[in-house]
Amino acid sequence: MAIQNVKGTHDVLHDESKIYQKVESLAASIAETFAFKEVRVPVLEYSDLFVRGVGESSDIVRKEMYTFLDNGGRSNTLRPEFTAGIMRLLVQNKLLLTNELPVKSYYVGPVFRYERPQLGRYRQFNQFGVESVGHDSPYNDVEVITMAYVILQSLGLEDVTIKINTLGDEESRNNYREALKAFFAKHIGNMCSDCKERLVLNPLRILDCKVPGDQEIVKDAPKMSKYINEKSRDRFNKVLSALEELGIKYEIDDTLVRGLDYYSDTVFEFHYTSKAGKNYGAIGAGGHYDKLVKELGGPDLPGVGFSFGVERLVAVLKDDGLASLEDDEIDFYVMTLGEETRSYATKAALLLRVSGYSVDMCMDDVKLANMFKRAEKKRAKFALIIGEEEMNKREVVLKNLSSKEQLTIPFDELIEKVDTLFLNNEEE
Ligand code: HAM
Repeated sequence: MAIQNVKGTHDVLHDESKIYQKVESLAASIAETFAFKEVRVPVLEYSDLFVRGVGESSDIVRKEMYTFLDNGGRSNTLRPEFTAGIMRLLVQNKLLLTNELPVKSYYVGPVFRYERPQLGRYRQFNQFGVESVGHDSPYNDVEVITMAYVILQSLGLEDVTIKINTLGDEESRNNYREALKAFFAKHIGNMCSDCKERLVLNPLRILDCKVPGDQEIVKDAPKMSKYINEKSRDRFNKVLSALEELGIKYEIDDTLVRGLDYYSDTVFEFHYTSKAGKNYGAIGAGGHYDKLVKELGGPDLPGVGFSFGVERLVAVLKDDGLASLEDDEIDFYVMTLGEETRSYATKAALLLRVSGYSVDMCMDDVKLANMFKRAEKKRAKFALIIGEEEMNKREVVLKNLSSKEQLTIPFDELIEKVDTLFLNNEEE
């Protein structure tokens, strides 16, 4: 039996890969305009990084990590997200010991979570994201939210809903946690076993419980907004008014707590329902964090960032017809008449390729008419026809596949002639 891919993973075939490239390169170029620079972190990290970074009470650490012992007996984990790894990179390479804060990084690549696969949810998926680290201004939050918004707009995703909330600073969160503990202590006997653990580790996590009976209890739980202190409230208001000033619409959602433990103050999610009504969950999310760098052994500095789920972006673009799956054009299709002409033809193809033209070549002994059909399918602009006669005279036949004009060119003049043809074509 043929071997199948691992459950929850997926292949990206040639045409779809173009959409991934488009999304990732557009996001990267927009991040560059916001003065973010790319970093690359390993897929593999020591497990402690995520246990300490993402947090012991998060579902990611409790249930979803791909963790194994290496041959030296150390626990390794395939990254379930980027943010903790980026903090490790910044601390380990001493990049935060500078006056020029924040340090602004972007990243793209695969992450791994052992989740239950379903629409838009994979066990290996890709994230594109940014982290702006080292400076506490609320306008850094505004900058990253704006960047995410600009990326989504540039992709054509105009009807994005931005859900936003504040979790408050440490003091606010501690007060809220105490209130939740007191409330849930009265109900915990009737709640799921996960919630019993959550009550001890982090009662905020109970608010995310999906068990229907527990959700009923959560409805009556104290509201976070009542516990946000003045400092955090002011900070949040600054973020909101700056977004308004920029014309970026948002919805305040005071049930938004996010599933990772490192957040404080601003948190947000981007939602998009495709025209067909398909809902893939959040297409991106992020927030501000104030203790993560310190937790990982670095200076006491805050940060803010977001990550998009690239698969989810690609899915909504495809659903809404915003990503064409049509094959790209190629410039030349090389038609060879017989095996003995192929070495010569390969030389002609290489010459064109190193001059920047895209070239494919027929390697089969099929009839010329068949080759023209193939050229049409590949959307080639020109055919380069090479038979024994052309090879012996060191020539090639060039045929414009739309005008059907054809001419014979000496091999040594190929590039010069082709350059002129393409230049004229562009001017027309
Ligand atoms: P997250 O909400 O866990 O946040 O993931 C970010 C995005 O990744 C989600 O909004 C979603 O689009 C995508 N995603 C998550 N799980 C899956 C899955 N199983 N399959 C497909 N896509 C998925 C983080 O990872 C944070 N590190 C974001 C952040 C950056 N916060 C601050 N900086």
